[in-house]
Amino acid sequence: MSDDVRLTVAAHLQRARARTAQLTDAVDDDDLVRQHSPIMSPLVWDLAHVGNQEELWLVRDVGGREPVRRDIDELYDAFKHPRRDRPALPLLDPQEARRYIAQVRDKALDVLDRVRLDERRLVADGFAFGMIVQHEQQHDETMLATHQLRTGDPVLSADPPPAATAAVSGEVFIPGGPFTMGTDTEPWALDNERPAHTVHVPAFFIDAAPVTNAQYADFIAAGGYDDPRWWSPRGWAHRQEAGLTAPMHWHRDGDGWAYTRFGRTTRVIRDEPVVHVCFFEAQAYAAWAGRRLPTEAEWEKAARFDPVTGRSRRFPWGDEAPSSRHANLGQRHLAPAPVGAYPQGASPSGVHQLIGDVWEWVDSGFHGYPGFQVFPYAEYSQVFFGGDYKVLRGGSFGTDAAACRGTFRNWDHPIRRQIFSGFRCARDATPGERAAGPELA
Ligand code: AVJ
Ligand code: FE
Repeated sequence: MSDDVRLTVAAHLQRARARTAQLTDAVDDDDLVRQHSPIMSPLVWDLAHVGNQEELWLVRDVGGREPVRRDIDELYDAFKHPRRDRPALPLLDPQEARRYIAQVRDKALDVLDRVRLDERRLVADGFAFGMIVQHEQQHDETMLATHQLRTGDPVLSADPPPAATAAVSGEVFIPGGPFTMGTDTEPWALDNERPAHTVHVPAFFIDAAPVTNAQYADFIAAGGYDDPRWWSPRGWAHRQEAGLTAPMHWHRDGDGWAYTRFGRTTRVIRDEPVVHVCFFEAQAYAAWAGRRLPTEAEWEKAARFDPVTGRSRRFPWGDEAPSSRHANLGQRHLAPAPVGAYPQGASPSGVHQLIGDVWEWVDSGFHGYPGFQVFPYAEYSQVFFGGDYKVLRGGSFGTDAAACRGTFRNWDHPIRRQIFSGFRCARDATPGERAAGPELA
């Protein structure tokens, strides 16, 4: 087992680093040290922070080695300095940051060669390495969001997402009853995904696909942003104060809409999932449509529950790791794919594109599951439990497969929309409705 794990870990570390390099080599030094938005770090902070986290966990803790640098931990501690203050810190410059993360990586790979993977729970199945891989990939997605906020000529490119090959619309029935939420067996699952536990979810309907730009534009055209009936009191207050009128990055273009993505402006593509909306916008759309957002348990049941076996799968399509046939993940494309582009990624009940494309807001706060235990540090999850956060599920086109599972949980403030966030709608099933549904035919 352990040599396989070592090879897998090394490949994951290498892939994460190639992505980090791509995102940071794409711009000049001035761009790396500049702050593109007060809610984001300068890219050069993310760059060295990724290395510092790797040093803390892999070099010092797992490896028991001497620090590469003992003087910079405080600068790269996310809890010590809010993002808005980071450009003013005496950060490593781009050249120093690159040198630092390369030195840390050399040591971490040496630790990987020598460590006994079964010695401590922290390293069993390569967990600590997997945690660091996921951490770097998460910051890569954050850096991608910073790229989206950056103004200037395009510096990133990728193939366009695949076209739709299936007609997908309407809603899908998910039967009521217990299912297993969370996991005890996924080796690199983070503490907030554990433990596996039974949740009773009443029957409900969920959209077969995320809400599209065309659907969202109908909400705007119907005056949805001007009618407090559709908004929660807090959502309406935020809509007023922030002057929200459309998803972030949208602007009027004649009688329609255009958006600017990674420096390129195009007409809004109608059948693509809407992205860059906050929780309050998602909630308002759902109310206008006569629906609601799914709860976190509903989302996970739709994504994992196999009605034939009663088992929870790793992914909607089964237990197989994500590939380009299943889902739009890993920055292979710089946009969500149109609805219907991934029929092979659908769940057994026919719910599409739960994984990849856009993070999906769910109507649940971020809490620990029953029996939650901190592992290995409280600052990843626990300190955020019960705070002003809503959960997002499923990953986006900017999420790497290493940091995406049917159990994976993301969270953010309900006003945030610089992340690649969209949503789908749900509703309660009324008794007897299933019998009328086409899925019994
Ligand atoms: C899980 C995406 C909310 O980016 O704040 C990165 C991940 N934790 N470094 C974040 C994380 C520590 C986290 N999110
Ligand atoms: Fe971090």
